[in-house]
Amino acid sequence: MKQFISVNDVTNINALVEKALMYKANPFADKHLGANKRIGLLFLNPSLRTRLSTQVAAGNLGMEAIVFNVDKEGWALEFEEGAIMSGTTVEHIKDAAPILGKYFDVLAIRTFPSLANKEDDYSELYINQFIKYAGVPVVSLESATLHPLQSLTDVITIQENSKSQIRNSKLKIVLTWAPHVKPLPQCVANSFAQWINAWGEADFVIAHPQDYELSEAFTKGAIIIHNQDEALKNADYVYVKNWSTFNDYGKIYENDPKWMLTNEKLHITNNAKVMHCLPVRRNVELSDEILDGPNSLVTQQAGNRVWAAQAVLSEILKSK
Ligand code: CP
Repeated sequence: MKQFISVNDVTNINALVEKALMYKANPFADKHLGANKRIGLLFLNPSLRTRLSTQVAAGNLGMEAIVFNVDKEGWALEFEEGAIMSGTTVEHIKDAAPILGKYFDVLAIRTFPSLANKEDDYSELYINQFIKYAGVPVVSLESATLHPLQSLTDVITIQENSKSQIRNSKLKIVLTWAPHVKPLPQCVANSFAQWINAWGEADFVIAHPQDYELSEAFTKGAIIIHNQDEALKNADYVYVKNWSTFNDYGKIYENDPKWMLTNEKLHITNNAKVMHCLPVRRNVELSDEILDGPNSLVTQQAGNRVWAAQAVLSEILKSK
């Protein structure tokens, strides 16, 4: 694996999932693979799970991980080619990234969308500029449009909770929009849709209010329903996530609390397991009764972030 930006960098999803589960059973199986290698974890936005799980994963492989909060500790970076840098940016990515490539064997980057300009965000300028200029493999820790380490984790978590069912019949997985107090990126939803479609082991339904369509580039293949109760019928997994509007970009149109998942709605499902990438706004996006109840997978899911990151770093180290 030369980079990890989306599902398109993975040749065999099930093999990568198996590798992650192998590391879960034996975290130090490849403890020498990353010896004398260094990964730089660059954050332009906050993180709890991604930052710490990737550090742990690198450590399990014997790699040194150095975290740099670019947004708080670094010079303000310019990403536009040909920019006249007379404003607030101090250092161009074409100067900074090659230096980072000298310090690190692998670079991992988190950068959120602006939610102000769809074309800019969906061009993935920031992460693409790192790829262009760093000269070392780049791993996405969440980009403007996708969150592949989260999605790999999600597939791992579904796989380990339903091995026999996958063999016997197709799963039904529902991605449902949920209310939130502020506009959030589409990354997690886009990425989950892209991975579940590529995985191909489930009937995949996306439920959201009118006008919350996601980009077809990621959802194509899923059934889209605007009635949440109808979508939830016989679901085996319900993935809950808010996202802001895609077409009229980055807005909140409605925040109907009826879209928050409750135990009553869970009765419509096939006793579905409930997933969320976290952080979650309790009793806005998801009810306490679900998050603290027996159907919630959120802690297991977040724990699996380590094994997803370890499997990806292992693949990258082996191909270096
Ligand atoms: N799910 C996730 O990416 O969490 P963090 O933002 O805390 O890394």
